[in-house]
Amino acid sequence: MAKTYRVGLLGLGTVGTGVAQILQDPGARHPLFAAVKLHRVGVRSLAKERPVVLDPALLTADLAALVDDPAIDIVVEVMGGLEPARTLILGAIARGKPVVTANKALLARHGVEIFRAAQKQGVYVMLEAAVCGGIPVIQSLKQSLGANRIVGLMGIVNGTTNYILSRMAAEGAEFATVLAAAQELGYAESDPTADVDGYDAADKMAILASLAFGEQVALASVYREGIRGVTGADIAYAAELGFTIKLLGIAQRQGSSLGVRVHPTLIPRHHPLAAVQGVTNAVQILGDPIGEVVFSGPGAGGGATASAVVADVLNVVAALEVAPGRVNPLMEFPFDRMAAIAPMSATVTAFYVRLVAADRPGVIGEIGVTFGRHGVSLEAIIQKNILPNGAAEIVAITQPVQELAMQGALADLRQVQSLGAIASVFRLL
Ligand SMILES: NC(=O)c1ccc[n+]([C@@H]2O[C@H](COP(=O)([O-])OP(=O)(O)OC[C@H]3O[C@@H](n4cnc5c(N)ncnc54)[C@H](OP(=O)(O)O)[C@@H]3O)[C@@H](O)[C@H]2O)c1
Repeated sequence: MAKTYRVGLLGLGTVGTGVAQILQDPGARHPLFAAVKLHRVGVRSLAKERPVVLDPALLTADLAALVDDPAIDIVVEVMGGLEPARTLILGAIARGKPVVTANKALLARHGVEIFRAAQKQGVYVMLEAAVCGGIPVIQSLKQSLGANRIVGLMGIVNGTTNYILSRMAAEGAEFATVLAAAQELGYAESDPTADVDGYDAADKMAILASLAFGEQVALASVYREGIRGVTGADIAYAAELGFTIKLLGIAQRQGSSLGVRVHPTLIPRHHPLAAVQGVTNAVQILGDPIGEVVFSGPGAGGGATASAVVADVLNVVAALEVAPGRVNPLMEFPFDRMAAIAPMSATVTAFYVRLVAADRPGVIGEIGVTFGRHGVSLEAIIQKNILPNGAAEIVAITQPVQELAMQGALADLRQVQSLGAIASVFRLL
């Protein structure tokens, strides 16, 4: 191969360091690496100590100049954040340079603008690393599963929350205790909002659902609930009933629309996603005719994420070698149409409800009648513990019911003071 493809790397943090390490150590990898060279690395601070051995002459703090540099053929964005990442990526596209990015937050918010610009310019924007780190789910949706009609997709797409829920289940611990331990170990950020409140998972589900169903899913249309409300008691009662609680992203066809949601979910113990522990991510795709396929693996970490980034670089290099100036349609993200999204109120699921009620005869019957007034049938209702204050903990599992009816029943239950308080409400898979 005559041409050398020079990579401009934006960011040398967790992922950027992993990318630089692979590019500088091509031995025993694909022969195509011979054509790829790390040319310049953009960072914020030139003075910072770097764990990767890198020629200091490669570093620059002028990221716009890096993108502009005519010697750079491919721009890899692993700096994160919305700006200046968005402007730099659009700048690279405008100069006809392919982009590889791991930036899910940016793509979930500005993906339409970025992919439209890329399509207009006829350049690749590759995003394998943006969803589930090292797991090859994006290329699978674009290519390997391309013959299928995708019926549904669900997954554990946030490692931090899965780590917290796994430890809560294993140790019988409460959320706040495990979150603090996860922060100490570096598995959770000091501001854990993006992870524990489901924002990161919603970003990833917007991207995955867009690819799976061939229409852009607006981030604002993804229903989102985090895991702060999951207690040790809920995890224990769910386990007694045969379920594991996971933060699940779910995207499925609902008639002619799509439903895309992220929330804590009771998963039957024998479901493949129930066994996914710790920071591991997993995605289950249901396609016609393939049926169910499950991908699982490391959803984050420098090496795992860099594995996806550099594979995208190699794919771009190979595509440019084979057909310079032409775009392989199976490597694009070409969906211009916005997806019609079903309102959350139309979603049908069964529910788990934990109530704290007065310990007196007839309470369970009254709860059942209140649910019944809204057309909510109960699969099971069981009195569990008597709490130290004398109140009774009652757990109910409903039959599948429309969200609208369930919310009506819950609002009604909240009005009836004598029935006590609704402590937790979660959906079942
Ligand atoms: N970490 C993961 O496991 C993981 C997994 C999947 C996807 N991602 C995505 O990958 C991207 C990078 O994540 P990361 O964990 O590697 O981030 P990180 O460790 O915080 O590194 C960010 C890098 O970008 C540089 N940078 C940031 N803003 C800059 C600016 N305005 N000007 C110049 N340089 C700037 C920083 O420079 P300095 O070094 O000088 O501060 C640093 O080298 C994010 O979009 C993230 O969502 C990460």
